[in-house]
Amino acid sequence: MAPEPHEPAAPHCRICGAAVAEFLDFGTQPLSDAFRDPADVTEEFTFRLAVGLCGTCGMVQLTEEVPREEMFHEDYPYLSRGSAVMREHFRSLAERFLATELSGEDSFIVELGCNDGTMLKTVADAGVRHLGVEPSGAVADLAAGEGVRVRKDFFEEATALDIADTEGRADVVYAANTLCHIPYMSSILRGVTALLKPNGVFVFEDPYLGDIVERTSFDQIYDEHFFFFSASSVDEMARRHDLELVDVERLPVHGGEVRYTLARPGARRRSSAVAELLAEERRTGLGELAVLEGFADRVRAVRDDLVELLTRLRAEGHRIVGYGATAKSATVTNFCGIGPELVEFVCDTTPAKQHKLTPGAHIPVRPPEAFAEDYPPYALLFAWNHADEIMAKERAFREAGGRWIRYVPNVHVV
Ligand code: SAM
Ligand code: TMP
Repeated sequence: MAPEPHEPAAPHCRICGAAVAEFLDFGTQPLSDAFRDPADVTEEFTFRLAVGLCGTCGMVQLTEEVPREEMFHEDYPYLSRGSAVMREHFRSLAERFLATELSGEDSFIVELGCNDGTMLKTVADAGVRHLGVEPSGAVADLAAGEGVRVRKDFFEEATALDIADTEGRADVVYAANTLCHIPYMSSILRGVTALLKPNGVFVFEDPYLGDIVERTSFDQIYDEHFFFFSASSVDEMARRHDLELVDVERLPVHGGEVRYTLARPGARRRSSAVAELLAEERRTGLGELAVLEGFADRVRAVRDDLVELLTRLRAEGHRIVGYGATAKSATVTNFCGIGPELVEFVCDTTPAKQHKLTPGAHIPVRPPEAFAEDYPPYALLFAWNHADEIMAKERAFREAGGRWIRYVPNVHVV
């Protein structure tokens, strides 16, 4: 029976078309990377941020989709090179590709979302054929400036067919923190299949649903993160697109990720790590709605605890400064209602974010020097996924008596 006119239709899964059951609603949210000029008084783009589970294929996903051009454009500010740990992560992966999948004659790798070229630079320096596909103009220019070949475009089936036609097929298609950004997955996977050599591999790494649930890291949920992958949902997604999940590797970066390897069915031997992670997900009930509803309850508890702590500290007269104007922090500030009255400013190394206001919450963003100039007693660590790197760099803050406020996996002060 068709829904009554006042009842919105249930959202449909972007992988299999079945109904998606919503389990967490963050309400109206801005675009997480739309840093705003202080003089700009135009209305901000907003959408309803909510997340649900497909009862058929098990994919966790947003229930509303933001048009891609609103997010990825000339002024998209995020830079891969902003973290020394990530630079090393990508360098060592590129070295691994060069020693394995790209060691043959005339090897070719295509990277989706190559951003500023941090990963592909190592490949380019080794003289191996490569192509980055990157729709965001300014970051793509930075990649080109590093000697990386880059095509300013959204990757989708048509792009893939054109690349296969003009440059030949690839040994590796790779994507880091990009595949989960792309709702039009059928087009992507048809494109990847057309672009790969018969024995080629599709390797991608994204935040892992298991870590998000275990750590209550709800700030991984924002406009750009459309899918929240698990081994079981990726296994199912691959099968539906005539691909096979042949390897998984857990990664410590960005708060816990998994690197998935897909190949044509039967082309590669499946590693034992796949069965192990699938078994762990069955054991923890990761694909069950009740488990995700329990996560949603914990998220609301973290929100309440964080607001209470910040409000109390401010009432006691303490200054609080945010550290890292992450896209993730847009969910935290706007879901919790944290504005400049609680957090004086956020410091960040990214040039395109500095001297702007954070999306929705309108907290000023300043360069890191503003932090060191006059240490506050408390710093709210929004870039918690880079905690080791930041705390090592900011040892003087702690030595001066400063304390870090953290909210993953729960609210605590260190
Ligand atoms: N791979 C880099 C990393 O891990 O640091 C950048 C990740 S960044 C969070 C996501 C990137 O994906 C952005 O640079 C964005 O422009 C790009 N992107 C979004 N949709 C895309 C698409 N359809 N094809 C290729 N790149 C896309
Ligand atoms: P990410 O969590 O999406 O990688 O974003 C990290 C943000 O934090 C990015 O805007 C850069 C910023 N950042 C700093 O300001 N200082 C640092 O030391 C690091 C590692 C990141």
